[in-house]
Amino acid sequence: MARKDSPDDPQPLDGKEAASRANRSLDAALRPPKLDDFVGQQRTVERLRVMIGAARREGRTLDHILLHGPPGLGKTTLAMILAEEMGRPIRVTSGPVVEKASDLAGLLTSLQEGDLLFIDEIHRIPKTVEESSSTRRWRTSASTS
Ligand SMILES: Nc1ncnc2c1ncn2[C@@H]1O[C@H](COP(=O)(O)OP(=O)(O)OP(=O)(O)O)[C@@H](O)[C@H]1O
Ligand SMILES: [Mg+2]
Repeated sequence: MARKDSPDDPQPLDGKEAASRANRSLDAALRPPKLDDFVGQQRTVERLRVMIGAARREGRTLDHILLHGPPGLGKTTLAMILAEEMGRPIRVTSGPVVEKASDLAGLLTSLQEGDLLFIDEIHRIPKTVEESSSTRRWRTSASTS
């Protein structure tokens, strides 16, 4: 028997959206979830471990962290690990997506204290947004690459 669509029914996914969701979950499954699972990069891992330990002990958020390096080095993975280790949610955005200062302000005000904000490709953030945000003080941790 045919039934009426209710607002609670999940919308069918088109092929592109379904593929993108599958890729995201595969991506998440492949990334090491904890610092202990992260292979190599010992100096970076040790520094991050110290920062996480200090923040946890003192009951405060992580400082801003800039991760840089060539593609595939593990920057995004480390950002996800930081959130996992701190037991806090992470919001992900990207430099080119933040077109106006109000985009960044909207993102920042939607965070709870201690949430992580990962700005991928932060070098591509427009200069005007960069200058406007550097004149304000934000209380959340931002991890960037
Ligand atoms: N040290 C590592 N240990 C285990 N897996 C790793 C490590 N570094 C990277 N990977 C894996 O390699 C893949 C690419 O890593 P990731 O996406 O974090 O790189 P990236 O530095 O963010 O690259 P890009 O600059 O292209 O965004 C991921 O599947 C990640 O889980
Ligand atoms: Mg990345």
